[in-house]
Amino acid sequence: MSSPALRAGRDDDADGFISLIGDCWAEYPGNILDVDGELPELRALASYFAKSGGMFWAVEQDGAITGMIGTKPLEGGAWELCKVYTRPALRGSGMARTMLATAESYARDHGASRMKLWSDTRFDRAHRFYEKEGYVRAGPLRVLNDLSMSIEFCYEKPLVGTVVEKLDAAGAQSAIPRLAEILKCCVDDGASVSFLPPLAREAAVRFWTRAASAVAMGGRVVLAGWVDGVLAGTVTLDLDTPPNQPHRADVAKLLVHPEGRRRGLARALMERLEAEAAAAGRKLLVLDTKEGDAAEKLYRGMGWTEAGRVPDFAMNGDGSLSATIFFWKRL
Ligand SMILES: CC(C)(COP(=O)(O)OP(=O)(O)OC[C@H]1O[C@@H](n2cnc3c(N)ncnc32)[C@H](O)[C@@H]1OP(=O)(O)O)[C@@H](O)C(=O)NCCC(=O)NCCS
Repeated sequence: MSSPALRAGRDDDADGFISLIGDCWAEYPGNILDVDGELPELRALASYFAKSGGMFWAVEQDGAITGMIGTKPLEGGAWELCKVYTRPALRGSGMARTMLATAESYARDHGASRMKLWSDTRFDRAHRFYEKEGYVRAGPLRVLNDLSMSIEFCYEKPLVGTVVEKLDAAGAQSAIPRLAEILKCCVDDGASVSFLPPLAREAAVRFWTRAASAVAMGGRVVLAGWVDGVLAGTVTLDLDTPPNQPHRADVAKLLVHPEGRRRGLARALMERLEAEAAAAGRKLLVLDTKEGDAAEKLYRGMGWTEAGRVPDFAMNGDGSLSATIFFWKRL
C-alpha cells in the first residue's frame, strides 16, 4: 500500500470525489446527495475552482481518492474553505491538517486576510477539527433549503498578522477546545494563573465552559488573538463586579501560547481589552500577577500602577510560594 499523497484535483477525479462525499454524508442521518440536482459542480471540480479564482486538491492513495479540500476568494479579502472531506482511514493521520495548511497557505499567498467556511450543524467531528485549528463560530446559521434540510454553522478566523477579536457566546463556546489547550500549555509551562501543573484537560475545558456561559450572560468579555492564523492567545474581562463597583472590572487569564510569544500578541490583547472595558462603561481596571513574571514588565510598560505586593500569595508547581503584585489602571 502506498502512502497518501496530496496533489492538485482534476476534473477526471469526479467519481472518486462523489463517492467520498457520499460516504461522508452517509455517516450522519438525513443527508441526501443529489449530484445533478444540487451539486453539479462535483462533475468537474477542478474547473469549478479555477473559474472561481481558487484551487482544489485531492488526496490519492493506491489509485483511490481518500481526501479533498478546496478554497476560493470571496469579497473583502476573505477566502472560503470548501468541500473538506477525508475517508475514515485517513483520520488521525495528520493529513487533514496538512490539507488545511496547504489551502490556507495558498489563500494567504493569493491575498487572503481571513478564512471562512460553512459546515452542516450535524458534522460534529469536523467542527472539533476546525475548532482545534483556531476557527471560531461567527454570525448566524445558514439554511440551505436543500434535500438534506441542511442548516450550517459559519466558522472564521483571521489569517494574517496579529489580530484580536471579541468572541460572542457562540464564538466563545466554539473556542473552548483551543483555549483549553492554551491554558493547559501555559500552566504546564509554569504560568501562575490560579491552576497548578500538570493541568488536566478536563479542568481547562471546565474553566472555558464557565467563561463561555458568562459571555452568554453578559458578565464577561473573552478576547481571542491570532498570529498568522494560529489562535495563540486570550484575555478575559470580568464585568460581574459588586453593586457598589459598577465602574470597575477585573482582568484575568492573559495567556499567550509558548509558541506564539514575543510577537506583540499580549500587548494587542491588553490594548483591545482596555477599549472593550471603556466601551462597557468601566473606568478602572484591576489585575494581579506573580512577581517577576514576564507579565509584570508588560503591565508596567502599558501604564499600570502597582498597588502593592502580597508575599507568599500563590503556590508554584514545585510547592514553593511566590509574591503577587496587584496593579490598577484608570481608563
Ligand atoms: C505574559 C505573556 C502573556 C506575554 O505574552 P507575549 O505575547 O509574549 O507578549 P508581547 O509579545 O505582547 O510582549 C509585550 C511586552 O511584554 C514584555 N515581555 C513579554 N515577554 C517577556 C519576557 N519573556 N521577558 C521580559 N519581558 C517580556 C515586554 O515588555 C514586551 O514588550 P517588548 O517585546 O517590546 O519588549 C506570556 O508570556 C504568557 O502567556 N505567560 C504565561 C501566562 C501569564 O503569566 N499571564 C499573565 C497573568 S497575570
